[in-house]
Amino acid sequence: MRLDERIRELKVQKKAIILAHNYQRPEIQDLADFVGDSLELAKNARNATAPLIVFCGVLFMAETAKILNPDRKVLIPVRDAACPLADQLTPGMLLEAKRAHPTAPVVLYINSTAACKALADIICTSANAVEVVRSLPDRQVIVGPDANLAAYIQSRLPEKEIIPIPPAGHCYVHECFTRDDVLVARERGDRVLCHPECRPEVQAEADIVVSTGGMVKALRGHPPGSRWTILTEREMAFRLKTLYPDQVVHAREDAVCRDMKKITLPDLLRSLEKEQYEVIVPAEIMEKARRAIERMLVIGR
Ligand code: 13P
Ligand code: SF4
Repeated sequence: MRLDERIRELKVQKKAIILAHNYQRPEIQDLADFVGDSLELAKNARNATAPLIVFCGVLFMAETAKILNPDRKVLIPVRDAACPLADQLTPGMLLEAKRAHPTAPVVLYINSTAACKALADIICTSANAVEVVRSLPDRQVIVGPDANLAAYIQSRLPEKEIIPIPPAGHCYVHECFTRDDVLVARERGDRVLCHPECRPEVQAEADIVVSTGGMVKALRGHPPGSRWTILTEREMAFRLKTLYPDQVVHAREDAVCRDMKKITLPDLLRSLEKEQYEVIVPAEIMEKARRAIERMLVIGR
């Protein structure tokens, strides 16, 4: 029996659902019950009624699914699929920032560890970051760990003072894009969609700055032959071409998130067969982190 057929069969047998991020390998996206951005995946995980959730993404996303749905068993097929951006912020750094700015609330990007989320006032994603920060009455706001996302929020909310923590936190995949990528795309006649994890000068040049879920919405309703360049991880192009086969989507082939590519079909099969690897979050971290995530879900779309 083919791997994909065996996975589908096991999924039914075990009453499992497979959630996958937009950057997952095409063959994983094809098998998933739901594919989306971090916010959509968090909402989906919270509302899931299946006893088993197999999360194909990176660890902070699987942890978020577990935190929002503690009674379900959540699996991540590869244990060391991490997010190097999330790992750039530690609880110690966060406590130091809180000491230095005692009145400023802490807004943490969902790309952060569960231990850091437990110290945050509220979480945000790239889809709702501006809305979340705008909802706070405070002028000074600590935002981490992505300094480019912090700069994006600052550009949309000039009345606030955004304090990035750490000062230069970044995603190595999105950091590689330059203004030249935008200019080359324009010469090709493409409209340019850029993720808020890109550098500020790239954001300023792009036509639209959006989350990966925002990219899915941006193409909706456009006529066949519409041309786009996306400045984000390359598998997002597969997602968009699947949804909009008549439109033209360009992405940089070298924009690869290595950790997002760690999960393969054999890993997914083994994960379902052996129920590996269960995501465990310590109870005290889980409670505090859930409060910060739930607060986002009330405010953020
Ligand atoms: P999205 O929430 O926009 O999918 O972003 C997640 C991410 O890790 C981007 O690098
Ligand atoms: Fe983390 Fe960047 Fe990979 Fe997104 S693309 S999961 S931010 S390393």
